[in-house]
Amino acid sequence: MDKLLIEGGTRLSGEIAISGAKNAALPILCAALLTKEPVTFTNVPRLNDIGTLLRLLEQMGVKVSRDADVVTLDASGVDNPVASYEMVKTMRASILVLGPLVARFGEARVSLPGGCAIGARPVDQHIKGLQAMGAEVKVEHGYVHAKVPRLKGARLFTDMVTVTGTENLMMAACLADGETVIENAAREPEVVDLANCLVAMGARISGAGGDVIRIQGVDALHGATHRVMPDRIETGTYLCAAAVTGGEVRLTGTSASYLDSVIDKLMDAGCEVTAERDAIRLKGPARLAAVSLRTSPYPAFPTDMQAQFMAINAVADGTSIIRETIFENRFMHAVELQRLGADIRIDGNTAVVKGVAKLEGATVMATDLRASASLIIAGLVAEGETTIERIYHLDRGYERLEEKLSALGARVRRLR
Ligand code: EPZ
Repeated sequence: MDKLLIEGGTRLSGEIAISGAKNAALPILCAALLTKEPVTFTNVPRLNDIGTLLRLLEQMGVKVSRDADVVTLDASGVDNPVASYEMVKTMRASILVLGPLVARFGEARVSLPGGCAIGARPVDQHIKGLQAMGAEVKVEHGYVHAKVPRLKGARLFTDMVTVTGTENLMMAACLADGETVIENAAREPEVVDLANCLVAMGARISGAGGDVIRIQGVDALHGATHRVMPDRIETGTYLCAAAVTGGEVRLTGTSASYLDSVIDKLMDAGCEVTAERDAIRLKGPARLAAVSLRTSPYPAFPTDMQAQFMAINAVADGTSIIRETIFENRFMHAVELQRLGADIRIDGNTAVVKGVAKLEGATVMATDLRASASLIIAGLVAEGETTIERIYHLDRGYERLEEKLSALGARVRRLR
């Protein structure tokens, strides 16, 4: 298994381009199932998760063509509306094919994703919404089996804010008979990006980005071309890496407008942040001030940036309190950061982080995508060499990671 070796102590400086958003591209690629016409997507990040989804779509009969960051999907020949356990277990976002398959073909068999390192991650809200739209849904032998001649528009209320739940139901509603209203909808920018793509394909959607989304079902969608939005979590991750090393970077092809809560915290920590039209600049202080945070649905502080902030707080001046309210087990990076010398005490969904003067390089193990990002950030500022094992987690969500870090002056190399 690949490892990453990082020699700590360099200030990051320079300029890199941010890739397309993984969590926008995943639902958007599934939207191609909703039409028999070809759909072209640009700024699609080259990530393992994207590759996994494209293989799954191919298995269903979708014609996939890909050239660098451009992907064209043709779902006219789909003849197998099934997502097998073998595919879904490696990438739980595969559940996002469920809504489009039921909407277009009236039937779908999708393996339950199962949990992952950060939590049980059930999909009961996805199922509840489809049932409310008239689908007969059975969960047996680890598969969700949904059937309906045609979905009917309905008033849906999710018990909690769910990003992919909102996305699945919004896609399903595009071809339903009548109006669907999704209340308590997720407001994440990735939901808005998906809605913009669906509207370009002929869907009738209003309210995306708010907590009530209205969809007027239509008989068919048509082809379109859509550019995937920038990855705000990749952006935030590099901002944290620059901040903790006291560096100065410029990130292009991205926007500060999706990261208000994260940028606020970085400024509270002592960073100078300048937003340009499609770039962000950050200059870190000699030492960051500790900043407390509580994860919540957008536009509040994103759970996908929690691990990265635990890493920068580990060497900040002062004590911070981190509360994780979205997932039940998203502190696995804490024990690995402790191996580097961090002073972190975990109490349920709260972490108390006492900033230490320095971390010391060691061998650590990645456990999930964003936890591995936090270990990289810590390794960049630790004294000596840090070896991060199981970095396949990283390759799922960060495109050309060591290339981008090296371009900013980090001393990092991959060991095959
Ligand atoms: C999306 O996951 C993201 N993934 C996650 O990013 C992100 O952490 C998460 O939203 C929260 O922002 C993609 O978009 C592909 P949820 P998702 O449904 O949709 C509970 C990353 O690192 N819930 O918003 O699966 C759930 O257990 C990944 O890029 C139910 O109980 O998250 C969680 O506690 C990690 N039943 C909470 O809601 C359901 O039916 C929010 O989950 C659905 C969710």
